[in-house]
Amino acid sequence: MAQLWGGRFTKETDQLVFNFNQSISFDQKFFAQDVRGSRAHVTMLAKQGILSEAERDEILTCLDTIVADVESGKLTFEGGYEDIHSFVEANLIERIGDTGKKLHTGRSRNDQVALDMRLYVRDELDETEALLLNLLKTIHGIMEENKDTYMPGFTHLQKAQPVTLAHHMGAYFEMFKRDRDHLLSLRERMNVCPLGSGALAGTTYPLDRAYSAALLGFDGACANSMDGVSDRDYVLEYLSAAATMMMHLSRLSEEIIIWNSNEYQFIELDDTYSTGSSIMPQKKNPDIAELIRGKSGRVYGAMMSLYTTMKGIPLAYDKDMQEDKEMTFDAIDTTKSCIHLMEGMLKSSVWNKARMEKSAAQGFTNATDAADYLVRKGVPFRDAHGIIGRLVLLCIEKNCAMDDLSLEEWKSECDAFDEDIYEAISMKVCVERRLTEGAPGAMEEELAKNRTYLENAVKSR
Ligand code: ARG
Repeated sequence: MAQLWGGRFTKETDQLVFNFNQSISFDQKFFAQDVRGSRAHVTMLAKQGILSEAERDEILTCLDTIVADVESGKLTFEGGYEDIHSFVEANLIERIGDTGKKLHTGRSRNDQVALDMRLYVRDELDETEALLLNLLKTIHGIMEENKDTYMPGFTHLQKAQPVTLAHHMGAYFEMFKRDRDHLLSLRERMNVCPLGSGALAGTTYPLDRAYSAALLGFDGACANSMDGVSDRDYVLEYLSAAATMMMHLSRLSEEIIIWNSNEYQFIELDDTYSTGSSIMPQKKNPDIAELIRGKSGRVYGAMMSLYTTMKGIPLAYDKDMQEDKEMTFDAIDTTKSCIHLMEGMLKSSVWNKARMEKSAAQGFTNATDAADYLVRKGVPFRDAHGIIGRLVLLCIEKNCAMDDLSLEEWKSECDAFDEDIYEAISMKVCVERRLTEGAPGAMEEELAKNRTYLENAVKSR
């Protein structure tokens, strides 16, 4: 058991206690961030004259060799270290002796772990954002290609009005755009450095907090050292953003599952993104979409778990906070892989445009437009609604679409109908007449906005 403490103890830690207390089995995930933090800390210590330049260089060089040895597999995390911080420090001391013992001057594991977690979440946030941007580009591509692909729009999962695939996918563009914007605003809020907070009360050494913060790409040092070691709000915010992303991904997955079913056949998933059944040879299952939908549960779970952990913690650092890691790591990995897979699944799928259009033509999706036609001829909307309702009933009896009714049949319910009714309820007109901002007929404007959004997003990277 390699520990950083022990001076005031007369007995060894019980093995069970050690196992329960250790975090190296999972906090090794932020080894790179831990070393990055130590490099900044030691550079600042030398700048302030707390360590000599020679000591700084010795430590920096040794940190490089430790990283190289871990990467090559020469050095492993085995060996009974309590956590990743102990692992790095113990190896430093083993290699350079007394100089290594100076690394932790003016620092506590409390501000160290607060820093590591913050760096880790920030790195992962950047990767999540990049994945979201890719997904947005793919969705935008589908929209551009499907401005004229008609499909039924649904409410209550009942055919409602005809829309286009571009319009339908545009709703998901908005959702993932909000997710991305949420991450970007979180990045700004969380970008303060806890280093220098010490155990909770700061330190007597003349640290330059702004300097170490700048070395690590932060906008500045956190304002209050007690908050610095105990703030995990940014983790909660990431998890809540992730929960919302998973909810969006899950809704889209659900639609893909429905659209891929034999009844709908709107979309055909590529073989590379589907799986088969061990017994039914004909099956091609949408497992990836189902798994994305299913995995939303564990991400929500991670968020709830951390809220619950944090709610009873008195200031400042308490060991409960070690529980901020495992489920968060899992939630981050899960969310990232789901975004990635959704993007690949969408990109490789084929849309069955003819089938979608045929489906949109059935189910009286143009009934509202027929009513609007009467309103344009001066019939009050409520009366028009009743007239069209009766005509729909007639169509159901005759097993035909509204487009198949003869002019006499239209006129049997209302004299205001004329030859131009057929054009007025054609799919193309139904869609293109919807010109209000955000409607399927105004798709060019929406696409132009999305294009600008994507261009600016790429520029700002
Ligand atoms: N493994 C600990 C954590 O994840 C590191 C901080 C330990 N600090 C302490 N005072 N024991 O929170």
